Amino acid sequence: MNNLIDIKSLSADEINDLIYLAADFKQGRFAHYSEKHCALMFFENSTRTKFSFECAINKLGAHPYIFDGSKSLTSKEELFDTINNLCALGIDTFIIRTGEENLFGELLKRKYFKNVHFINAGQGKTSHPTQALLDYLTMIETAGNMRGKKVVIIGDIKYSSVAKSNIELLSKAGAQVITCAPAYFREDIKGVCFEENLNKALIGADIVMCLRIQNERLSEAINRDDFIKNYQINIDNFPSKAVLMHPGPVNRDVEIQSKLLDSSIGKTILKQAQNGVYVKMAVLEKIFGGGG
Ligand code: CP
Repeated sequence: MNNLIDIKSLSADEINDLIYLAADFKQGRFAHYSEKHCALMFFENSTRTKFSFECAINKLGAHPYIFDGSKSLTSKEELFDTINNLCALGIDTFIIRTGEENLFGELLKRKYFKNVHFINAGQGKTSHPTQALLDYLTMIETAGNMRGKKVVIIGDIKYSSVAKSNIELLSKAGAQVITCAPAYFREDIKGVCFEENLNKALIGADIVMCLRIQNERLSEAINRDDFIKNYQINIDNFPSKAVLMHPGPVNRDVEIQSKLLDSSIGKTILKQAQNGVYVKMAVLEKIFGGGG
């Protein structure tokens, strides 16, 4: 694997390989890549993705370099030139979060000082492949094989990179995906059923995945109270046999009621964060080419 840009470029076998490898790392697999150097370039805020990559790089004995996107030199030069210079310094892997929808497409067209690898750590509203992989590992651990299972994705579908990558992955895994959202967050996606009524959508759900309302991406005002009344998951409407998930960060008492979040049902969300480290170790090992 040379780069990880999106889920649609991975076959079902490649996805399963990554999940098995992540599970191996969780069980204590050891690998050491002291000759590998990784730049973390986050042009949008991140806690889970950024720290879990840094943690994964350290656990693998490789070297993380934090590039401060907010004070970056990209105001002085093109991002391509920054990357090419870092490449000349000896950095081989670039882990990037961006709000630009086709940044990786543009970066991959360029020729670099030597061979480099790119990993998408969240791109705008279109793709977040490592989140989908860690979500898939968490689903398998909590609900078993996902073929034929019902996954209900609720809330801000329109602006969510997590929803898009999860839908691509779950379709390859043979799961049934339903999206549920108010009109202002609705986005119709090929092969995915939409249900506007939350209680109807939740019937028979194996996984209930809530999404963060991405206030920073909204171009229109939304009625928060209306969203809470009609789309919040709480102690009363949560289907007792289902697994509750959320990519984080959670807007407490908006997408999920605090009482439910802080109950044993909410613990899966921390398992997602934990699995993020092992999935990133697996992705990095594939990118590094193994043998560490
Ligand atoms: N789920 C996720 O991407 O969280 P961060 O924005 O904290 O990385």
